[in-house]
Amino acid sequence: MDDSKKPEVHKGLVGVYIDDSKVSKIVQETNSLTYRGYAVQDLCASCKFEEVAFLMWHGELPTKQELADFEKKERSLRAIEPELIDVLKKLRHDAHPMDVLRTAISFIGAQDPNWADESKAANLEKSLNMMAKLPTIVAAWSRIRNGEEPIAPRTDLSYSENFFNMTTGKVPEPAIINAFDKTMILYAEHSFNVSTFTARTITSSLSDIYSAVTGAIGSLKGRLHGGANEAVLDVIQEIGEPEKAQAWLDDAIAKKKTIMGFGHRVYKNGDSRVPTLKGAFNEVSKLRGGEKIGQIMDILEQGMLDKKNIKPNVDFPTAGLYHLMGIEKDLYTPLFVMARITGWTTHVMEQLEGNKLIRPLCTYSGEAQRSVVPMDQRGTAPKATPAQKKPGNPAP
Ligand code: COA
Repeated sequence: MDDSKKPEVHKGLVGVYIDDSKVSKIVQETNSLTYRGYAVQDLCASCKFEEVAFLMWHGELPTKQELADFEKKERSLRAIEPELIDVLKKLRHDAHPMDVLRTAISFIGAQDPNWADESKAANLEKSLNMMAKLPTIVAAWSRIRNGEEPIAPRTDLSYSENFFNMTTGKVPEPAIINAFDKTMILYAEHSFNVSTFTARTITSSLSDIYSAVTGAIGSLKGRLHGGANEAVLDVIQEIGEPEKAQAWLDDAIAKKKTIMGFGHRVYKNGDSRVPTLKGAFNEVSKLRGGEKIGQIMDILEQGMLDKKNIKPNVDFPTAGLYHLMGIEKDLYTPLFVMARITGWTTHVMEQLEGNKLIRPLCTYSGEAQRSVVPMDQRGTAPKATPAQKKPGNPAP
């Protein structure tokens, strides 16, 4: 093909707009993020996670009565069926909790006789049901793999309080719940990130919402996306002492390593969620003795800024926060799921409202078209020479 006619390839879809959305907006110029028009910092200051979940799905913040009704419904859906507990008990105890969640949502979808109903009303019901059950699944798994019986959900506790109670049998002090709730709000939504795009792509073929969420969980698990929060703690633990942090970073930069919890595809001047999370980290640090880990994080942040001009993303402070809260490391990304379920499902419903099958193109650089050689002649036929290959043919 004439080089001037070669299509431009946008690897990783960098800089490509593929649709319009009314859910959230990343304002690059000011490094801010809004959900349905509300700045996330303001939502964190004034709202609990349940209000933000309502906002996501209904487009407006709830009135007092709407919130009461919403919470009542969410709390009534928290219990998981014994068959699902049996499935969890049959899994390898060292299975990654993200794989367990993926399996559990797939199970819930397969058990739902109404799975094919893609009406907005049905999808809202399914979304709330998944949100309500996710903490129960995460907590149940954390106990089952440690040889303990799951603790049943309580209907007198908030979403965040109930998670802690089901995991540890205790509700921590309000400052911890408050900080945890902020992580839930800030993890709830972030426009066309990889996992949301995965959910929208699955939906675009008119597959069901459970399939979309199952795929999104698989996508979030990766270390370049949600899995980064676990990887951040790996780094902090590997460093161990603040005195070793600078040398660790210098070595990592010299070896051109990717430093987890830093950088972002969209934000190039800092992640809008980080300042709120840093504030929460400082609060929790006072209660849970986080000076040492705080020092390590400060050194990494300053060093990355000085040497690479790259700032931390949401997963950096969150990893430190969850660690101080005593949460097991491999539950960090599942906690992300407990929050992002709201964003994913909102996008699934938005995708259905104006659906267009997502099917991009690629250029082709494989073998030129050739004839099938009969079996008894294979191995004797001459191989195609590079000159016969025609890279760049568009794929059908
Ligand atoms: N550590 C070291 N260098 C980094 C970096 C990081 N965390 N993030 C970006 N960079 C560097 C890249 O090496 C590249 O440098 P180069 O131009 O000299 O090659 C440059 O910054 C651009 O990075 P790139 O990978 O092209 O940006 P991207 O938009 O494709 O990637 C991420 C964005 C998030 C995948 C990337 O920043 C990353 O891998 N971060 C760590 C994982 C993480 O924290 N993910 C959670 C995101 S919320």
